[in-house]
Order: sequence, then structure tokens, then C-alpha cells
Amino acid sequence: MERLGSVAFGSVLLVCLLSGASALLQTANPDRVCKSCDPQPANCKAYQCIANCSMIKSCPSPNDVCAAVWWRKAGVVMMETKCHDPTQPLRGVMLDNSSSDCVLSISDKNPNIRLCACTGRECNEHVLLKTPDDQILPTSVTIGGFRIPQICMFCDFEITMCNATGVCESSCNISSICENPSEVCASAWMRNNGSPIMDTVCHNPALPFHGQYLTDYSNTFCQMKKVKGMEDFYICSCNAEECNDLLYFTDVPPDPRDIEKTLPPVLLVSLVPVLIVVVVLLSAVYYYCVFHQENLKAPKTKGIDSETCAIIMSDDDRSDSNSANANSLNHNTELLPIQLDAIVGIGRFAEVYRAKLKQGATDESFQMVAVKIFPYEEYASWKTEWEIFSDSELRHENVLQFLTAEDRKIERRYWLITAYHERGNLQEFLMQHVIGWDELCRLGMSLARGVAHLHADRTPCGRPKVAIVHRDLKSVNVLVKSDLSCCLCDFGLSLRLHNSMTPEELANSGQVGTARYMAPEVLESRMDLENIESFKQADVYSMALVLWEITSRCSAIGDVREYEPPFGKLKDHLCVESMKDDVIRDRLRPEIPATWTNHTGVHLLSSTIEECWDHDPEARVTAQCVVERFGEISSAVISPLNTDTKSAQDSGNDEEEI
Ligand code: ADE
Repeated sequence: MERLGSVAFGSVLLVCLLSGASALLQTANPDRVCKSCDPQPANCKAYQCIANCSMIKSCPSPNDVCAAVWWRKAGVVMMETKCHDPTQPLRGVMLDNSSSDCVLSISDKNPNIRLCACTGRECNEHVLLKTPDDQILPTSVTIGGFRIPQICMFCDFEITMCNATGVCESSCNISSICENPSEVCASAWMRNNGSPIMDTVCHNPALPFHGQYLTDYSNTFCQMKKVKGMEDFYICSCNAEECNDLLYFTDVPPDPRDIEKTLPPVLLVSLVPVLIVVVVLLSAVYYYCVFHQENLKAPKTKGIDSETCAIIMSDDDRSDSNSANANSLNHNTELLPIQLDAIVGIGRFAEVYRAKLKQGATDESFQMVAVKIFPYEEYASWKTEWEIFSDSELRHENVLQFLTAEDRKIERRYWLITAYHERGNLQEFLMQHVIGWDELCRLGMSLARGVAHLHADRTPCGRPKVAIVHRDLKSVNVLVKSDLSCCLCDFGLSLRLHNSMTPEELANSGQVGTARYMAPEVLESRMDLENIESFKQADVYSMALVLWEITSRCSAIGDVREYEPPFGKLKDHLCVESMKDDVIRDRLRPEIPATWTNHTGVHLLSSTIEECWDHDPEARVTAQCVVERFGEISSAVISPLNTDTKSAQDSGNDEEEI
């Protein structure tokens, strides 16, 4: 910074010598110091934002001004700050640099961003919102046919003390200028494993909010309404500054001045008892209808015995007590006492660490957890995965248990905190172990159970659930638990297939995943994007490759070779084009040698694997069907105790025994 300062000073001196001191006084400004930071989230309150930028720069040219670019990315206000030559366009826009304040203006050329320029020292740190009339207004109003965005409380999900009675304050202390002028303020209140949570956001009422279309968004206050057919689920919307901060679970008290204006007092007095009777009667009818309908609609827990439900419920209860903050977002002020130990995985968007979550005052008592750390630039991946995990219906013994998410602002990192599994991922495990038939069934069936649960639109207990597709199933994204069952992890590319997904949303969710594990229709980008079943069929194909990997390391197949992933060596880089040649042109699949037919179970399982990787997506069986097949296969094969499980040494491999 000092060097930059002296360079700037030197250039100013040169200009001084060349053009004379008087000219210098008019044009050059040796104090032109601006904030200068790459894009990063800004702090916004009311109608001004402050760049989170600690870098300042003495501008290289004496004529430079300070400039800022402002936009929204996935619900977060981003700002870039810099020195700028006002004779040149910035992002295609010529800037007005006459003001000492940085007042954002919207340009026709690029309506998604706002820009400003100013001449005060570090004046681009603070930016103000401007209308075409040069007014700065607090609410979403129309001025000369031009709407400016609303300002709403925007914290996404937060734990709340509100118990859905009376009037609650949102638990959110961040207000944000909405990304789009058509957005209004919205809030939702629900329970997550028993704990009340609140969602405060800007939301476009043309799109569903928590699966519901908003009907009350022209209100100036947020009147909570129970969502039909959902227990403990309320939503509201409104269109006034920060109106989703106060949430009315009761009727909003009418403003007495308004009533006095419209109703004569005598009429008012006589109407009150009538109104009370009507409200009581209507509520009785409403509750009768809702409960009666719910009873009629209550799904039978088909195929799941009450014991399974009880186990899953008690699992949830247990994990709740482990993680008081399940599915919440911890803000900076209340970060968990976590000490990172060692890195255990490096992914596309984030790194995973083993870590100690301190349980008491002493260092001795702690719970091992896994922390997935995303750099600030990967905010969208963190948010996607967090949103997937936030669905409490995702909880399942074969899905990685989520504890909480943290926005570590100071470190400029986003965290996801989950259960830790010391056996690591399935690929590492298979590299180091030869397994027996029983372990093959346990690993394979639990993998299929996890995928079936993701894909299901009901929980095992029959509650409605949004179907989810993983879209990056591979042995690295499966963890091995201490009891040798599997759980799915890494939901960074997952998609919630809610009923209200628009064709555009579906169409935008094209080719993602890892080339080696991509189904032929994904490799070719020929998926039927309008049919949500096709996403599940692509997952089943990838799951088949993982089932093949597990089987290839089972002593029941006879001669167990060293671990190899499907389609060749680990170090081989397989790109989409080369996979297309193998999987589509040559219809190649991983080898199932003839010796695999010697074991009845492996033989039956191989047939199921082949059905799962069928070229025709429609011909593939579902993950739930694979679970049922495992049940049939494992009961058809009674493995003689202990004769089936070989250690790596027994089978001639220099690998560790289970
Ligand atoms: N690798 C990635 N996630 C993990 C976890 N939760 N536990 C152990 N290893 C992991």
C-alpha cells in the first residue's frame, strides 16, 4: 500500500511539473483514495449498503473517481469497489461522478446491477439507493412507472423463541434490499424436529413459497396463516419496509382511527358481538374441515411396520439431543466451540475436516464432528447443500446426519457441520478391505435404502416429503459407518423435485455430476427434463456402478482383484467425451466375470445391477425395488458363519482386514 501511495504521489508530482500548479489544483487530487475490493457480500441496512472492504487504494490517475458496483447473488447483496477513470464506461455504463456520495443508479443497459461513482475519500464504501427522480425511498413504491425494490428482513432460516401465538418478532437482525422490485417480504414459521424455526426472506409472489402461492402480499403487515394440511406450518407475506419483522399469529389489531372514520360508534358497538359470534362459528367450521380432511387424507404407512417408524422417530429424537441447533444457521455471535483436527476430504467446492465439538468446560469432553468448509466464493454451493439438509424429512439412518450450518463471516468461510464417520468414504474403504457376503449385503442394501429415501415422496412413517435427487452418486460420496452400513453425503448438486418446479427450472438442471458415473442420457444431455422420474433413473444408474464396486471387493465372487473404480484406473481422467464413446457408442459397462455366477447371491445381485444400468432409463428398477431385492437375495443365501469373510491378506491382497 505504501508503494502504491508513493507511485501515486510520484505521478501527481510529474503532472504538477508538466501542467503547472494551478492546473493541478483543478484536476489532480493527490488524496483520491478509494475502497478497492473484489466482489464480496455487503452489509445492508435500510436503503444503504456498506462494502465489507478493508483494502484502500490511492488511485493511479489524478482524474480517477471512486466507484462501486452493486448486485444480488443468490439473495446476498454483493459489492465490488474500485478506482475508476470517469471518461471510460464501467460495465458498459458511463457514470455520473459529480457527487461526493456514491448514489447507486440503475442503468437500462444492465438492469441487474447498480453502479455509482463519487469523489470523496473512500466514498465508495457507503452506497445509497437512488430512484430516477433522485429520491431515496424506504419502501417499494412506484415512481414515474419505476419500482424500486422492497426492504425486508432476510435471514433465511433461524431458530426462534416464537411459539406461534400472539405477535412475534422475527429472530432476524438483517434487513436487505430485495434483489428484484417484484419481490415482497415473506416469513414462514415451522417446527424442525420439535424446535421452532423461522424463515425470513424477500420473495417473488409469482413463485411458490414453501410450496404455497402467496395471496396476501399486498398487505402492509405480515398476517400468519396456517398452511392447510400441514401441522405447525405458518406463512405470511406483505409489501412494506421490513414488514416481515413483526408476525401476527392473531388478527392484526385494527387501527382505531381508521374504524372511527368509517363506522359510527353506535354501529361499531352493536356489530362487535355479532362479529365475535361469526368469527367463532367460522373458526369452528374451518377447524372441523381441516381436521376432518386431514383424517381422510392421512396416508397409511404401507409396507412399513410401526416398529420401523418407532425406530426412525427415536433416532430423530436421539440426534436432536445431540444437536440442539439442528438445521439452524449459527451467526457469528454464537459460533459452536469447534476445533479443527485434520483434513479428511477435498471436494469440488469445499474441504472436509475432522473436528472436535467441545461439550463442556474442559477440553476432555467433546464429540467428533465433520466440518465442510466452503470459501466465500462458493456461497451458492453451501446454500444448496444447507437447504437440502434443512429439510427435516431428509433425516434417515442412511443419509449423513446434519448438525448445523455456520456463516463464519470473519474468516470469510461457510461451514456445514455433520456427523463424523471414521471409516471414511466407501472408495477408501473398498481400497483397503476385502469384504464378505454379509458385509456386501449390508453396505449395498443400506446404500439403496439411502437413495430410496432421497427419492421417496413420503417418509417411512407416511408423512409427505419432497423427493430429492442426488445427481452425484459415487463411492466417494458414500460414507461407511462404524456398523458397516452406508450413508449418503455431499448434496452440493442435489435437487429438490417439488411439484411446483417450472419447466425452466427443470430445463436448467441439465448435465451435472461426475463423468465416470454419468448415465448415458446425462452424458448425451438427452434426459427427459420434464419428467422428474428421469432424474431418479439417472441416480439409479450411478448407484449400480457403486453396487458393482462393492461386489467387486467381495470374497464371494472368487478371485478378488485390487480395487478399481468402474471404467478403469483411478488416476485415469475420464471426460464426458471419452465416456460417451464407451457408454453410449460401445454400450460398455463394468465387467461382470463368469465366476460371479458361482455364488447364488452374487449371481442374483449381478442381474439387479445390470437392470439398474440398463441403457433405457425406463427399464431401470427403482432404488426401493433394489432394497426389496436385497431382502430377497440375502434371505435366499444363508452364508456359513465366518467362512465367507476374508481379510485382504487371506485373499492375497496386501490390504487391511475389517
Ligand atoms: N469425508 C467427508 N465427509 C465425512 C464425514 N462426515 N466423516 C468422515 N469422513 C468424511
